[in-house]
Amino acid sequence: MIERRGFLGLVGGGAAGAGLAGCGIDLRPLVGNGSQQTAELLRSAAPSPPPFTVALPVPPVRPPVGGLIEVVQRVAEAEILPGLRTAVLGYDGIFPGPTIESRRGEPVRVRHRNELPVPTVVHLHGGHTPPEHDGWPMDLLLPAGSRDYAYPMDQRAATLWYHDHRMDFTGPQVYRGLAGFHLVRDDEEDALGLPSGERELPLMICDRAFEADGSLRYPSIDRTLREVPGVEQPWMEGVLGDVVLVNGAPWPVAEVDAARYRLRILNASNARRYRLALSPGGELTQIGSDGGLLAAPVRHTALDVAPAERFDVVVDFAAYPVGSEVTLVNSLGTGAAAQVMRFRVVRAARDDSRVPAQLPTVEPLRPGPVRREWRFTRGRTGRHAGWTINGLPFDPSRIDARPRLGDVEVWRFSSDLHHPVHVHLDPFQVLSRGGHPPGPSDGGWKDTVDLQPAQDVEVAVRFTDHRGRYVIHCHNLEHEDMAMMAAFATS
Ligand code: C2O
Ligand code: CU
Ligand code: CU
Repeated sequence: MIERRGFLGLVGGGAAGAGLAGCGIDLRPLVGNGSQQTAELLRSAAPSPPPFTVALPVPPVRPPVGGLIEVVQRVAEAEILPGLRTAVLGYDGIFPGPTIESRRGEPVRVRHRNELPVPTVVHLHGGHTPPEHDGWPMDLLLPAGSRDYAYPMDQRAATLWYHDHRMDFTGPQVYRGLAGFHLVRDDEEDALGLPSGERELPLMICDRAFEADGSLRYPSIDRTLREVPGVEQPWMEGVLGDVVLVNGAPWPVAEVDAARYRLRILNASNARRYRLALSPGGELTQIGSDGGLLAAPVRHTALDVAPAERFDVVVDFAAYPVGSEVTLVNSLGTGAAAQVMRFRVVRAARDDSRVPAQLPTVEPLRPGPVRREWRFTRGRTGRHAGWTINGLPFDPSRIDARPRLGDVEVWRFSSDLHHPVHVHLDPFQVLSRGGHPPGPSDGGWKDTVDLQPAQDVEVAVRFTDHRGRYVIHCHNLEHEDMAMMAAFATS
């Protein structure tokens, strides 16, 4: 299997594999609240900075110019932990990559040039994209190569993200920095009066571990990322870091007005789940999900967020006295991972924003007769332990489902452990969870759903417009790299 799936090194080693030698340390500390994570903690050798000292960075916005955006994938150094240098694989050399902004109905081309020492694949997660531009995992962009990914942007306003999707090596390549936001806007959303401008913040949350010299620590079996996929045995279930980053900064702090803010939350972690809440208390008013706005706002005091899910929330900092500190906490984490970032309410301010009681319509999908089962379980992948769907490891030459465009099908996902299940091409709607109505995090158009251990989730899915080959996979990236993926073809 390794021979079949491996990439026969066209490139020299270089920075991608460097920096992980000598991680022989005390490696199996138990993660607190272990039942809430399918993953193992990887501890840093570098000391963690005190929380809430680094200012929240906001990635630079890149609007298209004449429908084109150019991105160079390159190795660069970042200062993630104060005083240390970290080599990242970055879109334009930064992590997160630049935020791409596009508008519904205005196609964009993103020209990626690969100056990295490893092949890459770019996937627009949540994109309604023709198959040749979707980032099929074997459709490699080789080092020194360049290609255009064309996105029709024929879809609702939503928080999308783009990230690496290279067969077998997505986990280490995203971990090293290949992820960024892609926001789709439209007139319908603009007319609502939601908080905007400085009061709209994309928040990419992810956990990482660091070597003593500041380089990223990740337990790849093959640290050159050339041939052997997967991670060392203790992290088979997934890699949890002990440093929580938001937009690439450890436990940052943001100064805010006493006003409403729109927070576009993305969990870009390889495996970590979060339960986000505000301390000393407060509401997260959810206005959107993976596939854009909900039909009406939903108030939460805590929000479970699995890898790759997006939650678009409004927080009204006018509910706190000026001078307050409001911490975004993670009640599934222990120690430092129990905190995410802090907001400091620094001034009173005028606020003309609104959260309308009615948001754009979400047309409910009415399922037809076709049903499919997708079982996500641990299993053998050739000679190795790995992860399977319906008992089978990913085989790019096998098509497991052939849905017809326009049909609404019921897909039933079942699981042994936690598996955040993601479907390419079109979003779905959750019909039931564990035989009950959808949970509080399941509303609206979803493209990733958080499966709990031994749970069945039924969704209604409808594919439109594009014919061809796509993937469904677990978005725990260690599971994905260890074969928890399957192909389907629309026709
Ligand atoms: Cu976010 Cu197939 O991936
Ligand atoms: Cu995707
Ligand atoms: Cu999984």
